[in-house]
Amino acid sequence: MVLVAGSANLDFVVRAPRIPAPGETVLGRDVQTFPGGKGANQAVACARAGGARTSMVLALGRDAYAQPLKASLQDAGVVLHAQEFDDVASGTAFICVSDDAENAITVAPGANAQLGPAHLPALGGYSHLLMQLEIPMSTVLDYATRARAAGLQVALNAAPAQSLSPALLALVDILIVNEGELHALAGTRGTIAKALAALPCALVVVTLGSRGAVARGSTSMVYQPGFAVHAIDTTGAGDTFCGVLIAQLAQQHKLADALRHANAAAALSCTQAGAQSSVPHAHAVASFLQAQAASDPQAIAALIDYCKVAI
Ligand code: RIB
Repeated sequence: MVLVAGSANLDFVVRAPRIPAPGETVLGRDVQTFPGGKGANQAVACARAGGARTSMVLALGRDAYAQPLKASLQDAGVVLHAQEFDDVASGTAFICVSDDAENAITVAPGANAQLGPAHLPALGGYSHLLMQLEIPMSTVLDYATRARAAGLQVALNAAPAQSLSPALLALVDILIVNEGELHALAGTRGTIAKALAALPCALVVVTLGSRGAVARGSTSMVYQPGFAVHAIDTTGAGDTFCGVLIAQLAQQHKLADALRHANAAAALSCTQAGAQSSVPHAHAVASFLQAQAASDPQAIAALIDYCKVAI
């Protein structure tokens, strides 16, 4: 059983020809809203992956935005431990999605900033705690400490990018980052391979966008090349990856299989608009994977070479 502790945001999304440069105004198209937030997106992905019962502890305002956020999680089968606050708005995110599927996101944390140590539910029955960095760092540290003490595996998606204290890193069993986040954690310049080796966590996974993902376990490296899809919106792809990966590991699947499923689900999520709305169900991921050839040795070699590039 997986417990996700993290943010829920209502995403206000505008598609535009390109993401504006600093100081630039770009004319976009209609605004749309989608349930989002890294924590909630990952909880939905974990639940839709099937096989791992998923709960989420989150904070919301008592406002109109809270309803679609709760409904999306519950529709996916996530059991909620929701704290609701009268005097603060639910989290929101303002997202520009460009016609080449990239995004730029600004988050107004609102109630997410109120999630605190008092809100952690009883940990009995859970195997994994999955967190991100859109809730207070003090809460992340407190939850990680208590989860470790209770024998859970602590998984952290260190997003949005920031440096982490050695005390927190020492509590994390599974660290999931993208290239920018890996760079922020590594601090100094070096290669991806060196940064992966230097981090103290038992398992470190770096997602590399359309290139795929690489995992550094305690005894081995696993290289998973990306899957080619026609991407229209990459929002939430990293969250889909994290949720599916932890769902797979919680069911004791092998790391290579978990990485392949997570990568396939993330690729599929890029073919639909929005964050939670784009997270695929397990059957869609299974049929997608059936149609894929086994990983090409040349693609794996290219990924190994990419890990030798300085970041
Ligand atoms: O990772 C994508 C998410 O980041 C969006 O859903 C947005 O809410 C922000 O949290």
